[in-house]
Amino acid sequence: MSDPVTTFKAPIGTHDVLGPASAQWEGLVATFAQFAFRYDFELCITPMFEDVGVFNRGIGEHSEVAKKEMYVFADRSQRHYALRPEGTAPVVRAFVQHHPTVPWKAWYVTPAFRYERPQAGRYRQHHQLGVEVLGTDDPAVDVEVISLAQRFYEAIGLRRFRLLVNSMGHDVCRSAYVEKLRRHLLANVPGLCVDHRDVWHENPLRVLDCKKRSCIAVTEQGPMLIDHICADCRDHFDRVVAGLLSIGIPSTINPRLVRGFDYYTRTTFEFVSDALDGAQNAIGGGGRYDRLAEQLGGKPTSGIGFGSGIERLLLARDAEDVQPRDLINRTLDLFVIDTTDLDVATELVDELRSAGFATGRSYDRRSMKAQMKVADKSGARLALLVGPLEDAAGEVTIRDLRSADFEQRQRTVARGDLALEVSKLLND
Ligand code: HAM
Repeated sequence: MSDPVTTFKAPIGTHDVLGPASAQWEGLVATFAQFAFRYDFELCITPMFEDVGVFNRGIGEHSEVAKKEMYVFADRSQRHYALRPEGTAPVVRAFVQHHPTVPWKAWYVTPAFRYERPQAGRYRQHHQLGVEVLGTDDPAVDVEVISLAQRFYEAIGLRRFRLLVNSMGHDVCRSAYVEKLRRHLLANVPGLCVDHRDVWHENPLRVLDCKKRSCIAVTEQGPMLIDHICADCRDHFDRVVAGLLSIGIPSTINPRLVRGFDYYTRTTFEFVSDALDGAQNAIGGGGRYDRLAEQLGGKPTSGIGFGSGIERLLLARDAEDVQPRDLINRTLDLFVIDTTDLDVATELVDELRSAGFATGRSYDRRSMKAQMKVADKSGARLALLVGPLEDAAGEVTIRDLRSADFEQRQRTVARGDLALEVSKLLND
């Protein structure tokens, strides 16, 4: 007896996207690309893996993602790489390597890999749409980046979402604050959650990000960063909030919003959907990272950006019952039915596709009836029939698959006039 053939499934926490869901993905990416163009961003493509140091230094080796969630591997030459867990550090690494003219405004669409506990809205491979701007700390840029996200969410039909903002201050004012927080945590260690009780001192800010009730209770009694940032950082923050208001974008200050990566400075923000479950309700997030270029070996260069999970956006759209307006039309124009026993269909579809028509056909020399069935199912507007008689006369019969009126339904045209006739009928 031979061994049964093993079948495989997509790895845990990942998923395949097939039609019709994939049409929603296409629509979302196309809309984002259009917005990025409108806001004057260029596409940036970087490798799916980087030297592990890009992330250890970039997002911080004490961050949860670097410590527990990165897919790290050695290649056959024993170089240590990581699959990208996020999109910012690679873009900044590319900036440092190629030094494009500033301000440099880049957008991307990328998978991101994190070894998380998979659940609805949280995956081991998710996909992000994002932007980064390098080379200016003008609060107007913060406003522009946040407004791009806001307007994009509105354009894809989302309504039930809110913008939360905070400021992380810069190195100096944050360090002074972290000392105050450290003292508060030290006095309250027994109250912290089991995950943080032993490691809180590695990076006390992470405790602010903890969603466990015990950590929330301890930190609520402690100092808040937004109350301790310096006058310059406060002024920057106030200008961002005022700039957003001036274009009709309200925001709520969330003093606990420190986000999961160590690179953040000054403005941080998150968009949360009220239609999604609490733990996975962030549809996008980002902020400033004014030291990251330096940490990756470049000259001091300010930066800001955001990333938005495609899966979360689609879940939010579903939960809000939004009918997508950005679906790309995937209906065929034409379907060629060839009963000649020759390869007329091969020439005909090539001619029609080159003329710009979305054209389907069937294969395997099936019967006229079987081909007609597929044509009907395809949703194509017109069927083009070529049998031996039409072929000998240099003609094609056009049948309107959506008309009930038989007279209207069918007409035979010379092959030379086909593209013109088809175009007239489609535009009718
Ligand atoms: P992040 O908040 O880790 O930020 O991820 C951005 C977005 O990706 C989240 O708001 C969420 O929509 C989605 N997301 C994150 N993890 C998962 C997951 N496991 N499954 C499904 N969706 C997920 C960043 O990655 C930063 N690079 C954003 C940024 C850009 N900051 C500055 N520039």
